[in-house]
This record gives sequence, structure tokens and C-alpha cells, in this order.
Amino acid sequence: MKKVLTDSHHRTIDYLRISITDHCNLRCVYCVTDTVKWVPHEEILRFEEIARIVRVFVDEGIRKIRITGGEPLMRHGLPEFIAQISHLDGLEDLSLTTNGVFLQQMAGKLRQAGLTRINVSLDTLHPERYARITGWDLFHQVWAGIQEARRVGLSPVKINVVAMMGYNEDEILDFARLTLEEPYVVRFIEYMPVNEKWNDDNFLSVDRIREKIAVTYSLVPINGTRNNGPARVFQIPGAKGEIGLISPLSNHFCGTCNRLRLTADGHLRPCLFSDTEIDLKTPLRNGGGEAALRDLLRETLRLKPERHHLQNISAPKCHRGMWSIGG
Ligand code: GTP
Ligand code: 5AD
Ligand code: SF4
Repeated sequence: MKKVLTDSHHRTIDYLRISITDHCNLRCVYCVTDTVKWVPHEEILRFEEIARIVRVFVDEGIRKIRITGGEPLMRHGLPEFIAQISHLDGLEDLSLTTNGVFLQQMAGKLRQAGLTRINVSLDTLHPERYARITGWDLFHQVWAGIQEARRVGLSPVKINVVAMMGYNEDEILDFARLTLEEPYVVRFIEYMPVNEKWNDDNFLSVDRIREKIAVTYSLVPINGTRNNGPARVFQIPGAKGEIGLISPLSNHFCGTCNRLRLTADGHLRPCLFSDTEIDLKTPLRNGGGEAALRDLLRETLRLKPERHHLQNISAPKCHRGMWSIGG
């Protein structure tokens, strides 16, 4: 019989997000701060260490794994790592979130290694704005990567758009239109207060986004059947793609949270917005075996908080940056 993991709030936990590096080749305004401190190389889990953790966790009930960063495509040996875990018995969904900068050259290798789908961050369709948001003039390269991902058969290709006043609020319709002719899943994500650059004035709620789309198109809710994570999913009638709305602030989804996060330096985080972490790396490197990993997994589940309290604060709450947790 398949094992099922539950936390102390009776939620089934079956999703593990793994950050394989805290390094990133972009400097997105909503993510990286000027005071960023990278984790030293020797503190980063080796792929064989991550694979050991993954084998135990999948055996215990993890069914869905997402590889994140920083920027995961910056790490050498990724296709080989994917090939190592993609066929694990019990793993039902393996995916990756990337900024797409190296996607054009990597998409085929990732697909071959057993990756089936991919999420790409892209916050604007204007090249000059892309440079303003990310610090680098790489829009065309990312767009070519997205097309290559489709060409090699990664499906669905989801496009993550962090929606921000003052940056892309006038592009909501253009992004929605991307779903009309091509099967993209465009997901709008509310800007979250994760670092000191947070400014209330930049916040754009998913309700406002929905209104902006509704002026031109109707949006029909569709059931979250296909690994939709925290997104509520809609479709413009007749469109080939879908539109997802992710609202961590205006309508938090903690009640249905099914995830844990493994940081690049080997700590297991029960919640994105709580600094509670369980160290897996030290026991792993001190000879701890499978039994130790199983115990630490249960301890993390016991500590998983019921919800975050982002709405109650004006200052950001988590000490690690998004680049080291992986969103
Ligand atoms: P799918 O399985 O394809 O639906 O992916 P996902 O939405 O779980 O993963 P993805 O990395 O594409 O997540 C999109 C964004 O949603 C992340 O970058 C975060 O900004 C946000 N997000 C994902 N999980 C959480 C969460 O547990 N809490 C909060 N507050 N935001 C999250
Ligand atoms: N608010 C919302 N999403 C964020 N991400 C990073 N920082 C933030 C933030 N402040 C998300 C981006 C990217 C992923 C790696 O993390 O959507 O897709
Ligand atoms: Fe941008 Fe992602 Fe890099 Fe953060 S980790 S700077 S969101 S590409």
C-alpha cells in the first residue's frame, strides 16, 4: 500500500520543492536584494545527497517534486540528476521552475532525462522592461527558450508572471492573449513581501487582474485536475491555453498547502514564510542513514504551521531570500 504523509493540521503533504542552487544569473526586483550572500560551494548539497533524500521521501509519500533555484539551469549535471530520480517508483510528477535564460540549450536534454513539464518566469513581453525588471537584456533569449521547450514536447509550458503596479500592470491583457492561440498556461502571481524592497504601492491583487481581463474576455473556471499547485485556473472560451491566478496575499491557500521545501544547503522548511528549518545536511554528512531522514521528515511535518500571517505585517518576514528558497 502507498504511504501517505500528513502534518499536524491534517493536511496531506505530497509535494517537495527542491532548490538545487541559490545562485542566479538575474536580479529580479522583487527577489534579489543588494545584500545577497551566496552559500559557499561546499555547503550546497551534492546531487547524490539530494537523490538519497528524494528516495526516502518518495518512499514515505512524496508524489510531486519541483526543482527550483536560484536558477536551477545554472547547475552542472542537472540532466543526469533528473534521469536519476525521474523513474522512481511512486513519483507521479516531476517539474522545474526556471527563469529560462539557458532554456534554449537545455530543454532537449531535460526532456530526454525524463522531465515532462516546465514553468518559466517571464514578467513582461517588452524587451526593455525585461532588462529593467531582471537587470539583464535577455528577453529574446528567454522567449526562444520558451519556444524550444514547446518544440521538444515539454507540456504544459507554464509562464509565471509576478504582477506589479509600476512594472507590468498594463500587460495583463497581452499575457492573457498569449493563451488564445497557443497552449500556454499563463499564471499571474501576487507580489509577496519577501525582502526590504517591498513596497505596498507595487501590489496588484488577483481580483484586479481578473477585472482587467474581464473587460475584454470572459473567464471560465476550470477544475484543478492537472497539478495546479496553488493556482486557481480559468480559461477564455475557445482558448488553447489556460490562465492561473496565484494569490498568496489576498486569499492565502495555506489550508490546502501540501508542500515542503528543501533549501540548496540542505535544510527542510515546513513553510515558505516561517524561518523554522530542519537541518538534513549535518546528519546526512555525519553518516545518518535512511532512518534518520525519515525521523527528520516527521519532525518537519509536526512543525509545519497552520498558516502564514503575511497580511498582518508591513515588513517582510523571512530571512532567507526567495532566491535561496526557490519560491
Ligand atoms: P505547479 O505545480 O505547476 O502548479 O507549480 P507551482 O505553482 O507549485 O510552482 P511554481 O514554482 O511555478 O510556483 C509559482 C509561484 O507561486 C512561486 O514562485 C511562488 O511565488 C508562488 N508559490 C508557490 N508555492 C507557494 C507557497 O506555498 N506559498 C506562497 N505564498 N507562494 C507560493
Ligand atoms: N513575489 C512573488 N513571487 C516571487 N518570486 C520571487 N520573489 C517573489 C515575490 N516577491 C517567484 C517568481 C519566480 C520564482 C522563482 O519566485 O515568480 O517565478
Ligand atoms: Fe529572478 Fe528567480 Fe533569479 Fe529571483 S531566483 S532573481 S526571481 S530569476
